[in-house]
Formats: sequence, structure tokens, C-alpha cells
Amino acid sequence: MSTEPVLKITGLRAGYGQTPILQGIELDIRSGEIVSLIGRNGVGKTTILRCLMGQLPASAGSVQFKGRDITRLAPDARARLGIGYVPQGREVFPRLTVEENLYVGRLIGGPQGRKHADLVYRYFPRLQERRRQAAGTMSGGEQQQLAIGRALIGNPSLILLDEPSEGVQPSIVQMICETLRAIRDELGSTVLFVEQNLDTIMALGERAYVIEKGRVVRHIGAGEISDSEVVRRSLLI
Ligand SMILES: Nc1ncnc2c1ncn2[C@@H]1O[C@H](COP(=O)(O)OP(=O)(O)OP(=O)(O)O)[C@@H](O)[C@H]1O
Ligand SMILES: [Mg+2]
Repeated sequence: MSTEPVLKITGLRAGYGQTPILQGIELDIRSGEIVSLIGRNGVGKTTILRCLMGQLPASAGSVQFKGRDITRLAPDARARLGIGYVPQGREVFPRLTVEENLYVGRLIGGPQGRKHADLVYRYFPRLQERRRQAAGTMSGGEQQQLAIGRALIGNPSLILLDEPSEGVQPSIVQMICETLRAIRDELGSTVLFVEQNLDTIMALGERAYVIEKGRVVRHIGAGEISDSEVVRRSLLI
């Protein structure tokens, strides 16, 4: 694992209309790390990811990805640079099949798309079995695998996930966590995920940033992340 910062967020501010939400977010993620953003409902976790993806403009501060300032880049340009996004609630296209949903991700993956489709099916064999099924008819866990697959097919070096455990049964959450770790180990990806579920935070994350009212209020390092009391207390901040 290298110590190169893959993502560096400095003084990030953003909001909706006149309402400020992010009040100067600071965080740093090195290549190959798996890090979580945790905190109660409405503290700004999704807003951080939307800002990282370029779906919401920053009003101040900066986002650096692999040493490059991407603060003003459009979402598609960020995707092409290697940032994959698995949004909260998954947002798969319900009437399209699994294969067609993945094709949307392939548009970002370019000529390598075919190879990456094979990779997605290798990590999530369930998707291959269901490849001609309409995504909207699948279970929450299958849709979550599809949403991750759709991001993965663009060959991202940084994967952003927003509450991957939401609406997914525990055994499938566990499988998804193991698969994300395998993806990191084998492909060298960096993972930043938002989560409120204690088991998922501890099963997947190597450290965590606690968010409250649009700020990072605490960091839980590698030495503390396996202490369920520390993590539980942080979720109640
Ligand atoms: N499109 C929007 N327009 C106006 N306000 C919004 C919008 N989206 C979110 N907000 C507000 O911004 C704040 C932060 O929302 P955000 O979705 O980032 O929180 P979150 O931490 O992801 O919450 P949750 O855990 O419920 O997903 C909340 O007060 C929310 O009501
Ligand atoms: Mg959210």
C-alpha cells in the first residue's frame, strides 16, 4: 500500500440554495485504503459524496484527486479520471436489464468495457445469472451488486459508496463487504463509503471520519475501529 494521497479534501463548503450544509470538510485518503464517513441522518454525508462526484458545486475549498485539482470538473470528467459512484438508494434503471444497466457503465469504461464486464460477473456471479432480468424486479441485495458493478465497469481507482447496506439482508451485506475487500486487494482500488450500520462500518472500514453538521468532528483510526463501543458512541454524536 502506498502512502500517496489519492483524495485530499480541503475546506470544502457546499449547500443547497441559500442553505449551507458542508462547513469546511477536511479529509485525506491514501491509495488502497477503505475509509468510512459516518454520522446521523441529515449531517451531510451524501452531500459530501455528491460534491466529490461533481453533482453539487463547491462554494469554497478544494478536492484533489491523485494530485490534480478536480474541484470544478464536471461529473463525467471525474468518472473518466477514475472515480466510480454508487449512490444512496442505488438508482439502477428499473426497466432495463442487468446487462443494459452495466452497459451504461461501459460507456465510461471505453474500449476496455468488455473486459471489465467479465470482471464484474466474476466478482458478482449472481449478476451473470440474472443478466437478462429487469433490474427493478430484483432484490435489494441484487440491485446493490448491480449498482456496484455499474461503477466497477468504468474501471475506477476510487469507489464512492453511499450506504451500501441500506435495504440489503445481512448475509448479502457480508458478501458485498468481502467482495469489496477482494476488489481492493486484487485491483488496488481505494474505497470511501458512507454508512450508519455498525456491523458494516466495522466489517469493511479500516478507519472512519465522524460527520456532524457538515464538519468532521472526530477521526476513528485503525487502532480504534475494531472497538464497537467507540464506533457506537460516534454514531450517537
Ligand atoms: N436536494 C436538496 N435540497 C435541499 N436540501 C437538501 C437536499 N438534499 C439534502 N438536503 C439537506 O441537506 C442536509 C444534508 O443532507 P444529506 O443528504 O447530505 O445527509 P446525509 O447525512 O446523507 O443523511 P442520511 O443519513 O439521511 O442519508 C439535510 O438537512 C437535508 O435535508
Ligand atoms: Mg445520505
